[in-house]
Amino acid sequence: IRLFELNVTGSSAEFLPGLSTPTLAYDDGRSAARYLGPTLRARRGERVRVRINNRLPETTTVHWHGMHLPATQDGGPHQAIPAGGEWAPEWLIDQPAATLWYHPHPHGQTERQVNQGLAGLFYVTDEASPELPSRYGIDDIPVILQDRRFEVTGRFDLGGRSVTGYVGDTILVNGTHNPHLPVSTERVRLRILNGSSARIYHLALSDDHEFTVVATDGGFLPRPARMRRLLLSPGERAEIVVELRPGERRVLRSLPWDLGMIAPLTDGSGGNDRLDLLQLRADPQLTTNPTVPHRLTTVSALSIAEVAERREIVLEGRTINGRPMELGRIDAVIAAGSTELWTVRNAHNQPHNFHVHGVSFQIVPGEASGPDPALGGKDTVLLGAEQTVTLAIRFPSFSDPLTPYMYHCHLLWHEDEGMMAQFTVV
Ligand code: C2O
Ligand code: CU
Ligand code: CU
Repeated sequence: IRLFELNVTGSSAEFLPGLSTPTLAYDDGRSAARYLGPTLRARRGERVRVRINNRLPETTTVHWHGMHLPATQDGGPHQAIPAGGEWAPEWLIDQPAATLWYHPHPHGQTERQVNQGLAGLFYVTDEASPELPSRYGIDDIPVILQDRRFEVTGRFDLGGRSVTGYVGDTILVNGTHNPHLPVSTERVRLRILNGSSARIYHLALSDDHEFTVVATDGGFLPRPARMRRLLLSPGERAEIVVELRPGERRVLRSLPWDLGMIAPLTDGSGGNDRLDLLQLRADPQLTTNPTVPHRLTTVSALSIAEVAERREIVLEGRTINGRPMELGRIDAVIAAGSTELWTVRNAHNQPHNFHVHGVSFQIVPGEASGPDPALGGKDTVLLGAEQTVTLAIRFPSFSDPLTPYMYHCHLLWHEDEGMMAQFTVV
């Protein structure tokens, strides 16, 4: 069994020169945490136990976003850890290699606690992984994207929201303002998490340079995809490999993207922003490291013939199927281990996204074509204004009629406002 320790603590950090910002952080008991949390790592087939001490004067939870695990260990709003309390979830890692993350999920308080600094990465590794750059901090780099606003005193300014939620004018990458990354290898793998509450990043490299997408939320794509643009909404992850020449500088940016709303709303939600996120600075001499193979993994498409149930999910205002979240109401009861087809319709003239706990799903581009595994396993998907997406979802085999999992909009303010619902697996 692999043991981890996480203490949820109040701390402070210096993001802007000479100014101290009060923060929340996860520390692992070895090094004092100032912001965010340690990158946890466990192998497929391994059992893990995390001992969590809540040293905050308020309730929190720790949710394992993207993890396939029993609902009682999921860390959603039902697994509240009161001030001063302890929680020690334990589970077996049984899913393909992927970049997952953990963050608080206390009902109605998620956005604020995440914005104050509570988030971290959880890498699932797998012996069967393709050969890729994988030296942590050398050619395999975590990139947690967040946006914040600061008061003149250095405190986070957490007030004020656009229609999509909290949007900041200052980018932090892994808690660093104005970051650059010295690169010593011919290529670098960036594991990007959109750790923002509301900002949708439209990723690109300077000079429109191509990059190679190798993984998404649920793990490796069957084949790498060369791209110039990539949309990443809150909670989504993407792993990209960037090639560099000796001495080269390249900037990872976010470009404007039409949020589909009237101009002032798009503007307030960051849709017109052009932001430099991270500068890559290649050394004058680069050492060689693994090139991206043509095949990364094999994933078979979920079969439409095996679909046990079809459901329609409508996102509207701050509701799902017309109702705001209620902790005491179960919205869907699902057969353990079954496959369902969910059509998620964003009936709103604003963007939302959709996240399901405990699963990875496949996107179904059209009924005729069936689920497309080439798009990778996902757990969070962006829906532009008035867009519809169909998902093939294989549900967990852990049956528990009492403890629900969540599905919700991952724009954290919307989630806090009740754009969330619950399902049990029986
Ligand atoms: Cu990333 Cu229900 O959460
Ligand atoms: Cu989640
Ligand atoms: Cu939303």
